[in-house]
Amino acid sequence: MKRIFSGVKPTGHLTLGNYLGAVRRWVEVDQHQADALFSVVDLHALTVEHNPARVRRLSLQAATLLLASGLDPERCTLFVQSHVDEHARLSYLLECTATDGELRRMIQYKEKSVRAREAEEGVRLSLLTYPVLMAADILAYGTDEVPVGEDQTQHVELTRDLAVRFNQRYGHVFTVPKATHPEVAARVMDLQDPTSKMGKSHENGAGIVYLLDEAETVRRKIMRAVTDSGREVVYDREESPGIANMVDLLAAATGCRAPAELAGAYDSYGALKKDTAEAVVELLRPVRERHAALAADPGYVERVLREGAERARGMARPMVDRAYRAIGLLPAA
Ligand code: TYM
Repeated sequence: MKRIFSGVKPTGHLTLGNYLGAVRRWVEVDQHQADALFSVVDLHALTVEHNPARVRRLSLQAATLLLASGLDPERCTLFVQSHVDEHARLSYLLECTATDGELRRMIQYKEKSVRAREAEEGVRLSLLTYPVLMAADILAYGTDEVPVGEDQTQHVELTRDLAVRFNQRYGHVFTVPKATHPEVAARVMDLQDPTSKMGKSHENGAGIVYLLDEAETVRRKIMRAVTDSGREVVYDREESPGIANMVDLLAAATGCRAPAELAGAYDSYGALKKDTAEAVVELLRPVRERHAALAADPGYVERVLREGAERARGMARPMVDRAYRAIGLLPAA
């Protein structure tokens, strides 16, 4: 059976971008057709300035939201990355496989290191090595497919390169994985700045729809989204990024696979926004409701995570042990 691994970083509240780019497919497709693991990758949240209590809170919230979105612990393995030591153990071997040059070329490193310098925060070394830890997350499980949004493509490419290099040098240990993306909304853009990705944090939260936003807040953010100077509703990501983003959201929320056709059905921006706002509100309503119910029973979520970590450990341990032997380390007696 195909093995799937993916994860979400608890650096902020989960967004509509996370949901449409990744989580929704984990729920609707991946957990049904593969042996799937999903992780709240908390170690990755320590690569930039962080508040320990907030990371803890956001980790539990992310796990709760993944369950609220429909991940089913009977069908998939849900766990917290730091509960499984093999990730950090394997990461070191992959640091001995990657080069400084290839990590400095990572787009997210370039962008985030500039931001950290501007904020005079100092660039943590882990920000540079982060994609290696991500490769370890994936390779530790013999993963075939990594369902992610478009922004993670470069990291999955690096993972493939490291797997191939390791296998060539030390003998075949790792499966070479590939990234998969949703057909629509693989890159949801910020509503106030449609040329940049909708991230978990931006100076201006007005452009970000959070999964736990109240319905009125979602409507307001979408109705106030920056659109383009033209009047015609056309689907053109280059010329009209704001409208194209809106059409993508509507298409994704209504299950339509042909955003360009959808655009043709509208003759005003206002009507497009209104329908998009309602569609997104309806899409998120059940998630928010289930989250409220699950949040009232943190013991259940903690139990799911404990059992998930046990299962994940059982899968990762033999793979990482094999990599330790292959690279030349003496087995522990
Ligand atoms: P993270 O936490 O930034 O995002 C989680 C998932 O959501 C997708 N995503 C988006 N998709 C479309 N439009 C957007 N605006 C948008 N924003 C986020 C991301 O592509 C991702 O699929 N490095 C990863 C976490 C990670 C991981 C892994 C993923 C760590 N190890 C191993 C897969 C496999 C990250 O920062 O995701």
